[in-house]
Amino acid sequence: MVLTSSDPEPFNAPIADTLNQLWHPVVQQNGCVFKPVEHFEVAMLNLIFHPNINSTSIMRADVLYDSSIDSPKDVAISYEDYETKEKEICCEIEKLGILLRSNRVEGVRIKRRIIREIIPRNQDKDLPMRQSCLLLSGGAGSSSILFLPHGIESPESTPYYHPAVSGILLHYTSTRAHNDANTLQLFYRLFSPSPETVALPNRLERTALRLLATAYKHSLGVMNGYQKRVQHDVVIDKVSFQDTYVSLKRRYARDLVSRWVESTDPKKHVFEDLAIAAFLMELWDARYTEKGCAKNNISFVDIGCGNGVLVYILIMEGYTGYGFDARRRKTWEIFPDLVQDCLREEVLVPYLCLDTDMETGNKGLIFHDGKFPEGTFLIGNHSDELTPWIPLLGQPFMVIPCCSHALSGAKYRYRTSIELRLESAPRHNQQKLSTYGALVEHVAKTAHDVGWVVEREMLRIPSTRNAAIIGVERRSGDDMGRIWTAEDIIRREGGAAGFSDRVVALTSKKPRSH
Ligand SMILES: C[S@@+](CC[C@H](N)C(=O)[O-])C[C@H]1O[C@@H](n2cnc3c(N)ncnc32)[C@H](O)[C@@H]1O
Repeated sequence: MVLTSSDPEPFNAPIADTLNQLWHPVVQQNGCVFKPVEHFEVAMLNLIFHPNINSTSIMRADVLYDSSIDSPKDVAISYEDYETKEKEICCEIEKLGILLRSNRVEGVRIKRRIIREIIPRNQDKDLPMRQSCLLLSGGAGSSSILFLPHGIESPESTPYYHPAVSGILLHYTSTRAHNDANTLQLFYRLFSPSPETVALPNRLERTALRLLATAYKHSLGVMNGYQKRVQHDVVIDKVSFQDTYVSLKRRYARDLVSRWVESTDPKKHVFEDLAIAAFLMELWDARYTEKGCAKNNISFVDIGCGNGVLVYILIMEGYTGYGFDARRRKTWEIFPDLVQDCLREEVLVPYLCLDTDMETGNKGLIFHDGKFPEGTFLIGNHSDELTPWIPLLGQPFMVIPCCSHALSGAKYRYRTSIELRLESAPRHNQQKLSTYGALVEHVAKTAHDVGWVVEREMLRIPSTRNAAIIGVERRSGDDMGRIWTAEDIIRREGGAAGFSDRVVALTSKKPRSH
């Protein structure tokens, strides 16, 4: 797609409305065929609800009012504020009617009003901003979206994540004549209006191009029946997760990054573990605390805990538990004694594979047999050799697979064809899989077969290895099917010989950069 900056005539001359407010046409895309026009509207509504698609600086939008479901009184801002806003909006509409009429579009009508609050990712840098978003129907085949920020009076008071303008209009017109005449146009209302064509700052122009390109791409996507490949926020609501994540980030990120003693990238590790902690806290809240289990009665074990950051956050947040790893890490020393007491250098050799030979002797190592008190929540975050074992240990768990290993601890590629998939596998996993996809499906199938109701989440973490497989509930009722024992599974997988030797050997190797 080629996006052109405004064509000389008639597009680039500002259009004045009755109140002498000027709307500057900035970019236009010709040849848009979103038929019917609802394709454009569905795509734009999705972008209104998910402004993070347009900017990585934006975390989300909270909808304060939506005329399709709320009455004006339901609005989450004060009613007076809303009334004032309504007056302003009506005034804007009047102006807009004139604007659209000047583009030869008759009969503008408001189809839907939404007030959203845009929440930036870094709230120390930028404040949230409220904005009215109006879906306007301009007669057959035309539609517009008008964005009006609330309480922003100048470029200086505009948050970084929003273009420094007092209004944005995206206007789609289609005609029956020929496709080239179907246009998508973007107008800005500037803070310092000029009757002349003005040269916009580069950043404003680039943003306009991006907004228009996204609107175009998403409208085409809706028209072509695009479906999101990856579904997020299936297990835990996005807003609760994000609020907890932001709160943890504020309290722990800077300190952890500044005191990092490993040679690994602190930002990647810290933000990843903060996000996993936020997810677990919300998961536990939904599954345990809301059902009356006190927070400090939730007991966790992070198996293969590496640098221990996840354990640190969870302990500091008042949960009970510990982490262990075959190899102690330098980071453990930066944590308070309370946390250091919860980090152990131990090697897990599950009791289920103790019948295989253990030739290496114990070399003074401390072993864990994989028997945990009933109800202990097991965490396996990128825990390599342990990944396929965790669903077999009989306790609720969350596994985030990473490198692919067999029960023997050897590196292993699971079959990438579809026949071993669970019916519940996401649609994109019903095709031939990557090695990683096959590992994730293998863990899910193992968990299912030993009787867990398998839940899946694509975690919002800075890693491509972000699939979480969760088992909290046991299968029951209609969903019984065959339940395998862990021993059955081990036999089905060809045994676990060599596991103990392999993991003992780990203790004399330098940890990889995880
Ligand atoms: C890829 S690292 C991940 C560490 C950490 N969970 C993270 O995400 O940063 C895998 C860890 O699992 C540990 N590990 C593997 N097998 C183990 C076993 N049998 N017992 C204890 N730790 C083990 C390794 O020592 C390593 O630190």
